[in-house]
Formats: sequence, C-alpha cells, structure tokens
Amino acid sequence: MTNEAQIKEEMRQLEKELERHNRLYYQDASPEISDYEYDQMLKKLESLEKSHPNLASLTSPTLRVGGAPLDGFENVTHTHPMKSLSNTYSKAEVLEFGERVHKLVPGQQITYVLEPKIDGVAISLRYENGVLTQALTRGDGMTGDNVTSNIRTIKTIPLKLSVANPPAVLEVRGEIYMDKSGFAALNEQRQENGLEPFANPRNACAGSLKQLDAREVAKRPLDGIFYAAGELDGVSFDTHVALLEYLKCAGLKTSPRFWCVNTIDDVAALLDELYAMHSDFPFEMDGAVIKVNDRTLYESLGATAKSPRWAVAYKYAPEQAETRLLDITVQVGRTGVLTPVAELEAVQLSGTTVRRATLHNAEEIERKDVRVGDMVVVEKAGEIIPAVVRVVTDRRTGAEAPFRMPDACPVCGGEVEQRQGEVALRCVNLQCPAQLKTWLEHFVSRDALDIEGAGGIVCDKLIESTLVKNPMDLFTLTPDQLDTFNLGTPDAPRMLGAKNASKILLSLKAAKSKPLANWLFALGIPKLGKVGAQIIAEIHTSLDEVANSPILKDIIELNNQGEAIRPLKKIDPDTYARRCDEIEQIGDRLVALGWYKKTLSKSPTRTLAKYTLKNQQGVGAKTAESVVAFMNSERGRRLRAQMEAYGIAPAATEKASSVFADKTFVITGTLPTLSRSDASKLIVQNGGAVSSSISKNTDYLLAGEKAGSKLTKAQALGVQIISEAELLTMLSKHP
Ligand code: IVH
Repeated sequence: MTNEAQIKEEMRQLEKELERHNRLYYQDASPEISDYEYDQMLKKLESLEKSHPNLASLTSPTLRVGGAPLDGFENVTHTHPMKSLSNTYSKAEVLEFGERVHKLVPGQQITYVLEPKIDGVAISLRYENGVLTQALTRGDGMTGDNVTSNIRTIKTIPLKLSVANPPAVLEVRGEIYMDKSGFAALNEQRQENGLEPFANPRNACAGSLKQLDAREVAKRPLDGIFYAAGELDGVSFDTHVALLEYLKCAGLKTSPRFWCVNTIDDVAALLDELYAMHSDFPFEMDGAVIKVNDRTLYESLGATAKSPRWAVAYKYAPEQAETRLLDITVQVGRTGVLTPVAELEAVQLSGTTVRRATLHNAEEIERKDVRVGDMVVVEKAGEIIPAVVRVVTDRRTGAEAPFRMPDACPVCGGEVEQRQGEVALRCVNLQCPAQLKTWLEHFVSRDALDIEGAGGIVCDKLIESTLVKNPMDLFTLTPDQLDTFNLGTPDAPRMLGAKNASKILLSLKAAKSKPLANWLFALGIPKLGKVGAQIIAEIHTSLDEVANSPILKDIIELNNQGEAIRPLKKIDPDTYARRCDEIEQIGDRLVALGWYKKTLSKSPTRTLAKYTLKNQQGVGAKTAESVVAFMNSERGRRLRAQMEAYGIAPAATEKASSVFADKTFVITGTLPTLSRSDASKLIVQNGGAVSSSISKNTDYLLAGEKAGSKLTKAQALGVQIISEAELLTMLSKHP
C-alpha cells in the first residue's frame, strides 16, 4: 500500500470509530471510552485532515465541531415547498377532519397516525446517496436558509445514513428542538455570564440555528426529530408508518410515541392520553398531529396553498385553573422596576402547586380589571411562569378592592417614576436596598470586578450597616472597619475577621486596575451584558469616551433613520436618496468596526436591512441607547465622579500597535486575500480609522480589484492608493 492509501485507510477507520462512539454516547447513553480518549481520537483525525485535505470526508465527525464562521446564510429554494398544518381546537373539529378526508377519497378504508407536535424549528435535511449534503430552514416555505454547518454539529443527526443501499435522494423534514433540561442549564449559564436568558426552548433553538459561528452552535443542546418526507428518489413509502420505520433504521430520530388507528374516533379518544405524556418528552409539545397513514392517497387528497389536506394539527387548551386572589404585592428588581405579583390561594396547575403569578404591570391590571379578592383564572403554558389571564366577574360579591400601584417604593419608601415610553414604574432611589443588594452582588461577581469574599451575607450586612450606599463605597472601606465588621446580630455578634477582611481589600485593590470591559459590565447598566460590554470596550479607550461615543450615537441614529425612511421615498426622491446615503455611511462604518455585517438587499427601500448585527452578539440600538443614557444619568455621573476621586481609570483592551494612528483609510474593490471587514479590523486594531467615503481628509485608499468610482475620485483628490500587499508591508515594518 502506498503511504497515501495507508493514511486514507487510517482516516476512514478513525471516522468509523468516532461515529460508533458518538452513537454509544448520544443515542445509547452507554459510552465505552472517556471524553479524553474521544477528544484525542478526534484531534488525530483533525490533524490528518489538515495535512491531507484531499482525503477528508464529507461525513467526517470533525465537521461536528463546526468550522469558520459564515458571513451570512445562503438562501435556497426548497425542492418541495414546506407547508404548514391547519389547526383544530376541539375534538369535534378533529372528527370533521376525518369526514372531510372520507369525502375526498370516498370508499377508502382510512387509517390515521397520531403523534406529538414538537415545538421547535422546522428543518429539511437532504441526503444524497446516503450523505447529508444540505439542511434548510423553513423560511417562507418556498425558500429557506442554508444552515448545513450548524446542523452538522448536532451529534444525533447522522452525517451518513445507516442503510445498506442508500437512495439517490432522501429529503426528510422534521423539527430541531432544544432539550428541556439542556435549555434550563443553558439559561442558567447565560445569566451567570450576564446574558439575557431565552424565553423558552423554542426561542433558544431558533436563536442557536441563526448563529453564524457553528462552533457556538456545537455547544448548544440541540436535537432533532423527523416526521415527513420531501423529495424522494430511489426510495418510496406506501404508508407514514413505513416512512417512520425507515427513518429510524437509517439513524434518524423519530417521535418517541405514535399511534396508528383505524378510525378518527379512536384518534379523538387518544388525544388526552397523548397529552398526559407531554411532560415526559424531552421536547416541548405544542399539540398533536393527525395524519392519514396511506401515503398513496396524498396526491388525491391534495393541499391548499398553505397546508396539506392529509394532516391536521390539534391544539390543546392551555392549562387553566380558578383560584382566589388574596393580595397583590409589589417586587423591586435590580434596575428598580416595580412588578405587581398576584398572591393566590394555592391551586394545582400542570402538576405543580401555584401560589404566585405575575400581573406584569399596572396597565395589565387595569385592562383586566383585576381586584383583590377576585376569583381569577390562572394559566400556565409550557415552561413559562404562571400568569393571571382574566377575572371571573360572575363571582364578584362587591367586596373586592381595586388595586393601585404604590406612590412610593414598597422597599425603601422612595419616589417612583414612569419613564417616557415605558409602562413600568421604577424606584428612583439609588440607595434602595432592594436594588442595591442585587446591584452590589452583580458588582462583586466574578465576571464583573471579582471581589472575593464580598458576596452573600457580607453584601447584605454592608448595606444594612449603611457603610455601603452604592457599590463604589466599597472602595472607601478601611481595614479597621472591616476587621471588626459584625456579620451576626448585636446580641450574637460574629466578626468578619482580619483574614477575610484582607482578602476583600486585596481584591478591591486588584479591581482598580481591571480592564474597561469588566468595569462597564460591573456598573450594572440595564440591557448591557458581558459580551456587549466587551465589544464596547474594544473600541473605546475610557468610560468618558463611552459616555460621549459617536459610534453609539451612530447605532441609535442608524436605527432611527431606518424607521423614517419608508414614507420619505414617496415624498421626495432626492431626500430619500440622500438619507439612504447617510445610512450607508454609518452602516459601513459599523461594518468596518466589525459590529455589523452587511447582507445583500435587492430592495433600495430596505437600506437598513443590509446591516444586521453580527452573530446577534453585537450592540444594537436599544443597548446603545441604554448605555449612553446610563452614563449621562445622575447615577452614572456620580459613579464616574467617584471612580475619578478614587483614582480608578479603567483602560481599554490593548491595541496591537499604533502604526496607523491618525490615518484614515477607505477600502474599495475585492482584495486578494483579506475580506474587507478583516482589513478594516487590522486597520482599527493598529490605531487607524476606516471611512466609507473619500474626501481630502482620506490618507489612503486601499484598493483591490474592480475598484470603480472611489479609485477615480481618489486619483482626482491625490489620495495615496495602496494595495493589500502594501498595507501588510506597512504593518510588518512595525512589529
Ligand atoms: S407534519 C406539510 N408532524 O408544525 C407539513 N409537523 O404548524 C408537514 N411540526 O411546519 C408537517 N411536529 O414544523 C408534522 N409531528 C409533526 C410535527 C410537525 C411539529 C411542525 C412543522 C410544521 C408545523 C405546522
């Protein structure tokens, strides 16, 4: 055997072994080797693929860890449109579906399949000769996004079908979902990292599939279940059950439960049985699906523009219960928002005892006319917190008392305000203990300033003692104050002690020189998470710069102008064109800085749509607005003044160099190796600025192929024109 043939053999062997261990781990839950051994094997294969890319396989398990991020998803037309299902809401409507089917194909004996409706994201997988070649989202039903590299990271989806003679084409349709327990763990982790938690597993799943970086997707607990076919070539199925059996044999997951019955009455009778199982399923079930089993009838049964006539969805009524509203209390959160909470007489709902439910805000209470003492209907849908849906007005006695939100904060007694455009009331007292406690805990947490030993009870007691009225007061604490600080009660004192005190003081000292990103995060700015703080810190050099940031203003502006652009088009084409131009310039700057990506938009009326946040992890207008507002608010200004007084001036993440300091670049055309956004990043990282239009202030035009009008303009203005190679030489001269 030649050397090459040997290596190829070794690679195929590794692939096979890895796939087997994948199956043992993910499908059978009985692994034979340790994670470490698995990783070693995977690394071995990766390195062989790197040195012999010509031998790498399309179904290699290394694809499961995700490759380089994409710039955007390709739009692909479905071979067969992905329709949706029409809904029914009662057993009577289910029976009507059966009658309709009988009328459409008279004289036929019909069997039906009943299966759970999975609440996830619809997907179409294409296997060609048994190999996974494409995965498309539903999109608008006609065309969808090509999310193949993301789907390949889902370990339970086979890259190769495990059938002896794979068909030329097998398109399967199914649902990608996030495992319920995985969802809970992911949200916990997100909250720890200062990210907004996902509202429910479906959103988390959809958000994951939209990630452009498949390596991120690989970390999400996604799974798939398959229940229908698209294009088939070289294989056919007479019945739905036969299709399901084939999919299962081929290694594709199918529903954990389904029933095949002879009459529609049997289906209706089984609906409750299926519902009783919903909490045992690893996915959220949002109904039942009833399908005609005989696939040979599908063509005669036909379809409407929206949905096929051979299937229907049945939606269960959300679980509701009646109980008495005993009281309405008001909670105060970290940012001071007051939330009314219904205190209920205990009631059983979806298998749990419910004593409290959210009432959202005062507007909701008024709209539903909720009064203390009312009988109310509480609902719990899916994993969400229970809510009061309506009042049973028939059962009013006249003794019920209308509720008014308090004029003062229920925790500190301080003033409350309603900000313009918000429904929520907020406590404005910056020293409110309710706010202060969660704020202080955030401030000292690991991802913020990491003050060891200052969490939990120490936090509570520091606030109680009024030694700390805002987080910055931590920096005024002295060893004397802390050594003898009482964590107990006056009667049973318990001192913090010199050792713990010095730990806190040392961490505080270290915190003073923490980078800008940590400080920005620590300040507890509403809507700003850890990732957002990092992004902002990358391109600003100080907190003052953030407070007056032209870039953050651009982001807000970009959003606002986008809103205003549609009516402009009809009024005055010139103004419209000019505004598009303005947006284009702001947008390009954001692209250059790596915050936004540009996607192609054919419609000139949708200029804004060309700029979408990168990886959903950038900083959008709402966050930008919140950051600027906070920095310039009384609270923000006071914190900054305190920082200055204590000699704290967090610095930006270091720049690679300042070779391009004070130089402005414009980029045009296609560069030989760098993408335009990478070139921009290089320039910015080395101290330069990138602009989208040429003027006499431009220092360099970085020009690639098909440079066009900017090149002509640069020549006319005498701007120096450089190539990518020249840019790289300029950089290499200043290591
Ligand atoms: S069959 C022609 N079966 O529900 C459509 N769909 O509301 C064939 N869904 O778009 C779909 N579980 O994304 C089918 N067991 C199941 C399903 C299911 C969830 C989704 C699917 C569809 C949507 C319609």
